[in-house]
Amino acid sequence: MVRLSAFLLLFYSASVLTDGGSLLTPCKVDDTECLSKTTQQFLEKTCQGIPEYDIKPIDPLFIPDLDIVVGDDLETKLHYKNLTITGLKNQQFSDMKMDTEAKSVVLQTRADLNIIGTVIVELSKIHKSITGSYTLKGTALGTSRYGYGFRTDDKGIEHYEVGPETISCQTVNEPEVTLGPELREAIEQDDSLKEKKENFKKKELQKLVFCKMVEKAYVTVVHNIRAAAKILPKSAFLDGV
Ligand SMILES: *[C@@H]1O[C@H](CO)[C@@H](O)[C@H](O)[C@H]1NC(C)=O
Repeated sequence: MVRLSAFLLLFYSASVLTDGGSLLTPCKVDDTECLSKTTQQFLEKTCQGIPEYDIKPIDPLFIPDLDIVVGDDLETKLHYKNLTITGLKNQQFSDMKMDTEAKSVVLQTRADLNIIGTVIVELSKIHKSITGSYTLKGTALGTSRYGYGFRTDDKGIEHYEVGPETISCQTVNEPEVTLGPELREAIEQDDSLKEKKENFKKKELQKLVFCKMVEKAYVTVVHNIRAAAKILPKSAFLDGV
């Protein structure tokens, strides 16, 4: 039984390796249509994760903790907990630039995301915390920049090696944020908060929060590209580079 499953695993690995097309279609770096298709194909095949290749699930993507310091006069800190993000598997390819001399890539995708979780609003100045449910719906452009190199494995196959990434985010529309009734009531019932209520509704704050969530989510997206580069040959990614 052990031998059989080892055999099946080997067989599966071999078929993914030789048939890189199952995860990706090689594209020319300026062929937007091909890059859009291969992005979609990769996301469909990997969105639930492939543990044996260290490819992590991204749809839904779970973020246990995210803290944001608002920098207002109540010294507000927003602690987001148990965030579940859906929609990353439908991200759309938007742009890719590759500099073969500097060996760097800029990859941009667009994502319509739904986020649910809990937020603890900590008002440090007045030693008060309120907790409630939180949902956000929005569209963002996520841009990942990373350097790359090459590595030849022990079977003589050449691979990309993806370097550390930097991620930036732009919102495409105004995110729609809904606070749970427990939070809304807590804010209404507290005079000092009532006055400040508009602060929490500020579009700029909501965009900042959304982008922090997107940036955190894209770390896993880039992780999966890096993991795929370790198992798939360089030729599975791009043509003529
Ligand atoms: C987050 O989820 C865990 C596990 O379900 C739960 O124990 C914890 O209370 C949750 N945290 C918040 C702040 O809701």
